[in-house]
Amino acid sequence: MCGIVGYIGTQKAEPILINGLLRLEYRGYDSAGIATIENNGIKNIKNKGRVNDLLSVKGIENLKGTIGIGHTRWATHGKPSSENSHPHLDNSNTFAVVHNGIIENYAELRKDLESKGYHFLSETDTEVIPNLIHYFYNKSNLQGELKFLSAVNETCKMLKGSFALEIISSDYPDSMIVVRKDSPLVIGTSPTEHYISSDIPAILSFTKDFYLLNDLEFAYLSRNSIKFYDSALQEISKTATSIEWSAAAAEKDGFEDFMLKEIYEQPKSIRETIGSHIIKDGKCIIDGLDLSKEYLQTINKIFIVACGTAMHAGLACKTVLEQICEISTEVDIASEFRYRNPLINKNTLCIFISQSGETADTIAALKLAREKGAKTIAISNVIGSSISREADYTIYTHAGPEIAVASTKAYTAQIMLLDILALYLAETLEINLDKVEIIKKELLEIPSKVEECLALAPEVKEFANKVYKEKDIFFLGRGLDYSSSLEASLKLKEISYIHSDAYAAGELKHGPIALIENGITVIGILTVPHLVEKTVSNLQEVITRGAKTLIVTNQDLGDKKFDKVIRIPEASEYVSPILSIIPMQLFAYYISKEKGLDVDKPRNLAKSVTVE
Ligand code: AGP
Ligand code: GLU
Repeated sequence: MCGIVGYIGTQKAEPILINGLLRLEYRGYDSAGIATIENNGIKNIKNKGRVNDLLSVKGIENLKGTIGIGHTRWATHGKPSSENSHPHLDNSNTFAVVHNGIIENYAELRKDLESKGYHFLSETDTEVIPNLIHYFYNKSNLQGELKFLSAVNETCKMLKGSFALEIISSDYPDSMIVVRKDSPLVIGTSPTEHYISSDIPAILSFTKDFYLLNDLEFAYLSRNSIKFYDSALQEISKTATSIEWSAAAAEKDGFEDFMLKEIYEQPKSIRETIGSHIIKDGKCIIDGLDLSKEYLQTINKIFIVACGTAMHAGLACKTVLEQICEISTEVDIASEFRYRNPLINKNTLCIFISQSGETADTIAALKLAREKGAKTIAISNVIGSSISREADYTIYTHAGPEIAVASTKAYTAQIMLLDILALYLAETLEINLDKVEIIKKELLEIPSKVEECLALAPEVKEFANKVYKEKDIFFLGRGLDYSSSLEASLKLKEISYIHSDAYAAGELKHGPIALIENGITVIGILTVPHLVEKTVSNLQEVITRGAKTLIVTNQDLGDKKFDKVIRIPEASEYVSPILSIIPMQLFAYYISKEKGLDVDKPRNLAKSVTVE
């Protein structure tokens, strides 16, 4: 969680740090802080609350330093407070550190440092880091850069857990060290200045050339050079990667919120995901993927593993994988998968989905699958993200930067890419080629059908405005409509804080119907033709008990008495989850707006969950 940003160059650091933090705020936003190197040492300004609150902290206007580090926090250890905010300094005020992640063994490290005379000002796990650096620095006989670097390296050796760190020191007023392990960090570079960030969009307006660090690689930054070291402090060479995303793609572009912008970008993001993968001379070609027929014939099981919305994208594609590829497919939550000793071997193909490519549980699950001998494919939206460094193959959705915490365009792009992957596997296996052709045609029609779904926004808004004060809203669906219901319910609870659950409609009578009372809102998703009548009967049962109903369907439901029917374009069940979720994303959005909530930064959530 959390965002870190850094600057080393010739300009005043403070405005650049604030600008970067504002863009990173979606990653964590309970407190913020910056530290710069001034003529008289390190100046540290931090506060509980949002980045904008930092601007009113006394002294910030006096910062002139051209080297600085910044942090927007998502607390793991210690409540949001000024003391617990980052940056944290050591007892001698020589080293300032910002940290993203968790230090699992901080309690024992803290106790040990206390026994050596160090005292602590915060409840965080992070504060052990600057003090450990100070401890190793004082013990060292080395000189110059190496002394600083070695103190940081010795410290990292002591840390268990995950960390992305930026460190500045008043003893080294022209330098900065950064290092990461299991937490994201990128270095944007140009000849005379460098920008550090937890993710690329935050610094995209400054540079398009980035260095990516592997676990426990160190970057020693000066204004006009960067030296890289491995964990044995041997210098290593690295090449910068150029990123194609435009800075404008990470702006709101006239929309009120990132989420609304991202919902409306879906025709484009789906088109781009199709464009880069599907159909060259008729056959699906997926950049970065090269699986042979002989290998695929040995596969008897596919696992799709992910968290949250990405996991729902997996659920939406289980059927197409099973039916087109004829391989049994299981979808699992990464945090469950990694601890349940799943049956995996070399005949298992494991697919991991992560928009950010930084989700700790998903990455750990991937590592486990590799250890057990499976081939691993990662689906990510972020080039060079951590997951891509762990997987055998990484294939990319081309959704562009997704900033709103609630995932929308990444979800539909993930479904599209999984559908294309299913076609690719079936074509390679040379099976069900007639079905493959039909689905291919359907996929190409999806972007314009998504446009039709977006045109339904006024109808969705009208219904949302009627029910935004509700305490509970339930979703019902069968088959693929059940997986869409799960995603619709997640979207609603994330940004409206309304309690919401999704049920497989057939399960209603086995318990949930006890919750139905007069006036309650129930939303039905009905797009799988052979299941429509059955779900309609379940909806009739809730109507009888006084429920208000909103229906999302691609079928003609005749004169059935629902309160509102949203009619989306027809499509086969394989692809309809991409369409049925669009009105549901809008529904969640309009409810959140009507309640006056912060749509892009819902409470307690962060965009990227880099801790387990
Ligand atoms: C989506 O709206 C959520 N904020 C969340 O469930 C998210 O999908 C999940 O944390 C997985 O993230 P990832 O795709 O970046 O791995
Ligand atoms: N674990 C640290 C803290 O609680 C860092 C959390 C973060 O990544 O924001 O302060």
